[in-house]
Amino acid sequence: MLARVILSGMLDLDFDLADPANFAAGIPHHLFAPIREADGLAWSKDSAYGRGFWSVTRHADLVEVSRDAAMFSSELGHIQIYDIDDDVRDARASMIDLDPPVHTRLRRLVSSAFTPKHVQDYAAVIDERVCRCVDAFVANGGGDWAQLVSNPIPIGVICDIMGVPDADHDFMIELTDHLVEGTSAAELDPSAYGNTRPLRELPFNSPAAFGLDDYARRARRTVIDAPRNDLISKLAVVEVDGEQLSVTDFARFFQLMIFAGNETTRSAMSHLAMLLAAFPAEFERIGLDRTLVDSAADEIVRIASPILYFRRTATRDTVLGGTPIAAGDKVVMWYCAANFDDTVFDDPLRFDVARTNARAEVGFGGGGIHFCLGAPLARMELAAVIREVLDRGLRVELAGDPVHVESNFVNGVEYLPLRVVACN
Ligand code: HEM
Repeated sequence: MLARVILSGMLDLDFDLADPANFAAGIPHHLFAPIREADGLAWSKDSAYGRGFWSVTRHADLVEVSRDAAMFSSELGHIQIYDIDDDVRDARASMIDLDPPVHTRLRRLVSSAFTPKHVQDYAAVIDERVCRCVDAFVANGGGDWAQLVSNPIPIGVICDIMGVPDADHDFMIELTDHLVEGTSAAELDPSAYGNTRPLRELPFNSPAAFGLDDYARRARRTVIDAPRNDLISKLAVVEVDGEQLSVTDFARFFQLMIFAGNETTRSAMSHLAMLLAAFPAEFERIGLDRTLVDSAADEIVRIASPILYFRRTATRDTVLGGTPIAAGDKVVMWYCAANFDDTVFDDPLRFDVARTNARAEVGFGGGGIHFCLGAPLARMELAAVIREVLDRGLRVELAGDPVHVESNFVNGVEYLPLRVVACN
């Protein structure tokens, strides 16, 4: 049971909620439930992550923070719990770390490529990749779903869109894996990928960020000489308000898209397979009524909450959820807690593919200017896997214990051994 002190209008936590070990077996619902149910917000004191922070765990509070970028800044502090030094903030920032007006300008550059209508253009590519990966898994009688299915599909799709050749996809996965290590307790080799910069200047404090930056700069040079029909080529020459993207902004964009398009969606795909193993009857329901595919995809994102949190920093004194917040305070939005708020979702721990308000999930963010750019694409990828599973009558069971990524930031699955128990 949690030991904690309850003060007026807030909870003073006397354990380290952000300790990656708490997430070693997935979302620690037993830690979040009492915090969500108590009055006010919960306070975590100063720790290895720097200054203390407020935890937002209720759906309504999270939506409020997400939609008020003027009050809750992404740029002022950092979007992860740990602090970064003021002098390196600019060097690390991509669109997701910025406030308007710069955020608005950068988002406009890429938003048209990811609208629900536009992502339909990628449907055939997605279906083809999903079919090929599930083929390999089935032919094998099963195996590590993370390795065979979840890892290759999202990176393949985002790389197809960006214009990264197939031969480099494994390298992109490797770099993303190392970025995630920056959110765990793992030791990093600072000089990996030829890194010469101090880690504190790099996103995720990871030399893999240097590797991605270096790759992006080389890719840019290639397409400037010989443009192709892909996003890299467009971003290399695009003009906003009469200006081109600087080489640095281009490289940061590349890094953000590769990380955001890959890490999150592959983790949702592994959760999809774990849910298939645990609740085959729910997938039978979708088989009987294919109109449930869309709500099922959102329900999977809700249950998975692939990004556990993002942080904002208060720009002014305010009150949130009944708790006074001071200017400069860190405010952490735990998507993995708000997605299980029983004032919004009936019986929240239950996987229900026909949940009528599945779209209210906040796995892609709680709305507002930073709402996930790739949500339509990710939903399409998940829907493609669900349809492939149903078309094949695929049933699986666990063939061992899954291994979760030990991170307080992503709800990733490193290893997911499954056995095929039925297939048409
Ligand atoms: C299941 C898969 C995914 C999940 C759970 C997810 C989750 C999120 C979350 C929580 C945010 C921050 C929202 C906020 O701060 O309000 C975000 C932002 C973002 N996501 Fe995703 N994402 C997913 C897939 C993708 C994909 C496939 C792409 C590729 C295009 C992508 C690109 C982005 C970008 C570029 C941002 C930053 C948007 C901005 O700052 O304006 N995401 N995502």
